[in-house]
Amino acid sequence: MSTLDSFRLDNTRALITGASRGIGRAVAVAFAQAGARLALSARSAQALKATAEQVAALGTPAVLVPGDLAIPEEPGWVVDEAARLLGGLDLVVHNAGILPSQPDGAPLLTPLQQLPQQAWDEVVAINLNATAALCRHAHPHLAASDAGNLVLMSSVAGVIGTPMMEAYAVSKAAQVSLARSLAVGWARQGIRVNALCPGWTRTDMTAFAHTNGPLSDWLLAHVPLGRWAEPAEVAAAALFLASPAAGYLTGHALLLDGGVSVPDGGLAGIPKPPSPFTPA
Ligand SMILES: NC(=O)c1ccc[n+]([C@@H]2O[C@H](COP(=O)([O-])OP(=O)(O)OC[C@H]3O[C@@H](n4cnc5c(N)ncnc54)[C@H](OP(=O)(O)O)[C@@H]3O)[C@@H](O)[C@H]2O)c1
Repeated sequence: MSTLDSFRLDNTRALITGASRGIGRAVAVAFAQAGARLALSARSAQALKATAEQVAALGTPAVLVPGDLAIPEEPGWVVDEAARLLGGLDLVVHNAGILPSQPDGAPLLTPLQQLPQQAWDEVVAINLNATAALCRHAHPHLAASDAGNLVLMSSVAGVIGTPMMEAYAVSKAAQVSLARSLAVGWARQGIRVNALCPGWTRTDMTAFAHTNGPLSDWLLAHVPLGRWAEPAEVAAAALFLASPAAGYLTGHALLLDGGVSVPDGGLAGIPKPPSPFTPA
């Protein structure tokens, strides 16, 4: 196999959660371009329609396995149904995730001491509990594959200190920890497990920031590369982790963050505008 060919996913049976938009949709498109056979998941089939159409246009009709991962029975159903429809599973990219939200759905960025318990519980239910359930149910399918592979979409927020987003950061740190533990536990069954940790990426989840000029400018002042990541850039990294090109990589947390996690001690001299947040 040539090095370039090792980035392909021909005939790989892959489940992608959170595939209706944003990073998940970009991952679906990248994997379809690489030749994978796809099962796409989000809360509704209707929400998955646009991704399914893009993927079908690439010559790879996908099967749809809608399910609300907040409901404890659904992760198991989504995984088993994807495996049933694809005839097995080689690869799972668990990408669905949420920020804490206000009753109207807007993101709730607030210090832990002001975060309602209910908002914490909602984040943990999706980002952590559903992740664990999904991994548990994926295990027999991945173990039955010749090259089982699991990618957890974590975040740089799980690696650096992230005030105002503690629930999210804890849940994302837990995904890194889970990826490392499963990588070691499942290695002799031929299953690779890695976490992908993007920084600020231009999606619906971050629309509150990338559509707000002063807030965006302030956030980007802390990103050495000085710009938002695009979903396709995250998808390219997911493709690497998912493909035989990363065949010797397991238990890794790949930071794709424009340098956010690299401390510069102020020596880079990047000017920082005043914070729009009031310290609690
Ligand atoms: N954007 C960033 O800056 C960034 C940075 C680091 C990490 N991440 C992580 O990357 C992943 C994708 O983020 P994104 O920015 O693409 O977010 P997004 O645009 O808000 O998309 C979130 C996806 O998760 C699905 N989802 C949400 N709640 C769900 C539930 N209860 N059951 C099933 N699916 C559910 C959504 O599907 P429906 O709403 O259609 O059901 C959607 O497909 C997340 O895990 C996020 O934490 C994002």
